[in-house]
Amino acid sequence: MNFELKPMGLVGVANEKCDALIVLVPQAFKAGKDDLSVLIGQALKSGDLEAKPGKTLALYRPLQSNAVRVVLAFVGDGAALQVRKAVLSAVGLVKTSSLKKLLMSFAAPAREDAVRAAVAAIADATYAYTQTKSKPEGRTLQKAVVAATNASEVQASFDRAVAIVMGVELAKEWANRPANHATPTMLGQAAKELAQLPRVSCEVLGPKEVAKLGMGSFMAVAQGSDQPLQFVVLRYDGALKSKSPTVLVGKGITFDSGGISIKPAPEMDEMKFDMSGAASVLGVFRALAQLKPAINVVGLIPSCENLINGRAVKPGDVVTSMSGQTIEILNTDAEGRLVLCDALTYAERFKPTAVVDIATLTGACVIALGGVRSGLFAPQDALADALMKAGDAAQDLCWRMPLDDDYAEGLKTSFADVANVAGRAGGSITAAKFLQRFTEKFPWAHLDIAGTAWKSGAAKGATGRPVGLLVEYLMAQATSK
Ligand code: BES
Ligand code: MN
Ligand code: ZN
Repeated sequence: MNFELKPMGLVGVANEKCDALIVLVPQAFKAGKDDLSVLIGQALKSGDLEAKPGKTLALYRPLQSNAVRVVLAFVGDGAALQVRKAVLSAVGLVKTSSLKKLLMSFAAPAREDAVRAAVAAIADATYAYTQTKSKPEGRTLQKAVVAATNASEVQASFDRAVAIVMGVELAKEWANRPANHATPTMLGQAAKELAQLPRVSCEVLGPKEVAKLGMGSFMAVAQGSDQPLQFVVLRYDGALKSKSPTVLVGKGITFDSGGISIKPAPEMDEMKFDMSGAASVLGVFRALAQLKPAINVVGLIPSCENLINGRAVKPGDVVTSMSGQTIEILNTDAEGRLVLCDALTYAERFKPTAVVDIATLTGACVIALGGVRSGLFAPQDALADALMKAGDAAQDLCWRMPLDDDYAEGLKTSFADVANVAGRAGGSITAAKFLQRFTEKFPWAHLDIAGTAWKSGAAKGATGRPVGLLVEYLMAQATSK
C-alpha cells in the first residue's frame, strides 16, 4: 500500500476522484463557502453527524464530492486517540472489495499526533493476513492519500508514521505465521533479507557457533526440538563506528508448548505468537532503513522452539549460562528468560548505551495490564522515562513496573546460582528480576508484551506492537545527541 500526503483543503478534496473519502470533522470546524463545507456544516447543525468523538455519517455519491462513498467522522478536539477511533470506524464503513483509493481529509489544520494516528489506523483497519490461505483475499486498498492544508508542517510526522506502518506490518506478518511456516531457520532467513536494505547487515549463528559461545541456557531450551536454534545478529549502521549502539533483544520462541512442563491444550495454538518480540525487532529494522537516523542499532534474536522430545530439558536440570551463572530449570515453560539471558550477556560486547529486550514473557503480565499497556521494567529512571514518553508519542503505551530486590527472593535455590521461576505471585516482576541478573554491564529495560503483541478472540492476530514505541525511542536518540 502506498501513502501520500497532499497539501489540499476541502475544495481540492471534493474534486479528487476516489473510491472513498473520509472527512475528519473537529469540534472547531468552521464551514466555508464551498459545497462540501456547507454540507458538513448542515450535517452538524441538524445532528445527523452527532458531535461525539467516533460518530460517523455515511453518504453515497453525494453531489458535493467526486468520491463514490463519503464518510464524515467527528473527531472532537482532534487528538490522536479520537482520530484513531474515528478512522477505524470510518474505514470499517467503506471497506469493500472495490476500495482501491482512499482519501482522508483533515477539515482543519492537522495536528502532528493526529496525522500519525490516522496513518496507523488506516493501515490497521485494512491489513489482511494472506500467507497461508489458498485463495488470498488480501488488502484491496492500493493508495491512501492524506489531505491537509498544513501538509508541509506535518510532513516529517507523516513520513515517520508511514515507516512505522511498514515495520508494524512486517512484525504482524511474521508473528501471525503458523509455527510450521515460521521456524527459527525461516525467521533467520527473514532477518537476512533485511540486509538488502540500506545500512542494514545481518549474521545468523547456528547451533555450533552458539555452543562455542557457551550459551548453555539458550541451548537447553532448544534441545527438545528437531529444528536447529538460530541466533540472529542484525546491525543498522547510521552513525560513526565509534558511536556506541542501542541493542534490541527480541524473544524468538517460534512455538512454546511449555516443554515437559507442558501447557494445557486450549489456546495452545496462540503460542505461535511467542516470537512477537523477535518480529518487532525485524519491524524496527525495516523502519530504520527507511528513516535513516544517524544512530547505530544492534538487533539480537535468540530463536528456537520449546518442544518435547527424548532429549528435552527436564524440571530440576541445572545448566550453565554464557555469563557463567548456573540456572536450575524448575519449570521448562519459563523458557523465554532462558533464551534471553544468554542474548543479554552476548550484548555486552557491543558496549551499548542501552539494551532493551522485548518479550512475550509472562501470562502474569497479561493479568496485570491486559492488552492496553505493555509492562515496562527499567531500573534507571532516565531510560524508563524515555521509553514511556516514546510510547505516549506513538500511541503504543506501556506502564512502569517495580524491580525491588525483595521480589527476587523466590528465585533462590540450593542447587544452582538461581532458579528460573519463583512462586505465582508477581510473576512478571520475578521474571524481570531473573533477567536483571544478566544486565549489570549496561543500562537495561525490559518490555513484557505478552498482553499487547496480539489479540485473541474473534479478531485473533498480531498487533505489530511495540514497533511504534521502539522506533519513536530510537528516533529521539538521533536528535538528542
Ligand atoms: N510465552 C509464555 C508467556 C505467555 C503466556 C504469553 C500467555 C502470552 C500468554 C511464557 O513462556 C510462559 O510460558 N510463561 C509462564 C511462566 C511461568 C511458568 C513462571 C507463564 O506465564 O505461565
Ligand atoms: Mn513458556
Ligand atoms: Zn514463551
